[in-house]
Amino acid sequence: MKKLEITVPITEVSFEELTPIQQRLVELAREATYRSYAPYSHFCVGAAIELDNGEIVTGANQENAAYPSGTCAERSACYYAHARYPEAKFLQIAVAARGTDGEPVADPVAPCGACRQALLEYETLAGHDVTVILVGREKIYILPSVRSTLPLAFSEF
Ligand code: THU
Repeated sequence: MKKLEITVPITEVSFEELTPIQQRLVELAREATYRSYAPYSHFCVGAAIELDNGEIVTGANQENAAYPSGTCAERSACYYAHARYPEAKFLQIAVAARGTDGEPVADPVAPCGACRQALLEYETLAGHDVTVILVGREKIYILPSVRSTLPLAFSEF
């Protein structure tokens, strides 16, 4: 028998410790929460993706009366990014959220499993790590790659 252990490297930083482009991504992700359509959960999520063509693409969760038809912020951003700029590679993604009280969430928001899986495909297409920035009210987590958020990911069949 062999025991395997997977560890996830997370760096906790303040806003001031981010690079200027990362600060911009955080601001745009926060702004994007105001374009969320979340009349059912009242949980507003925004995402901002930096592409290697210099563009930044944002997304926000879009809900629907038929609940499963809705889409998370991360997937709305990554699908739009690739639909708009199919040749561009992803560099970094920031995710921010406001809770049901309308205020930014205290702890960094974590993408759901489906979004991790979707983002992983674009990291694979990019051929390099895509930095993941998870934004809370005061603390911010930086993960070195999408893969690090989804150990044992499904990738081939
Ligand atoms: N949601 C996101 O957009 N991203 C996440 O990382 C977690 C959850 C959305 C889905 C739904 O509209 C609402 O937040 C509540 O789950």
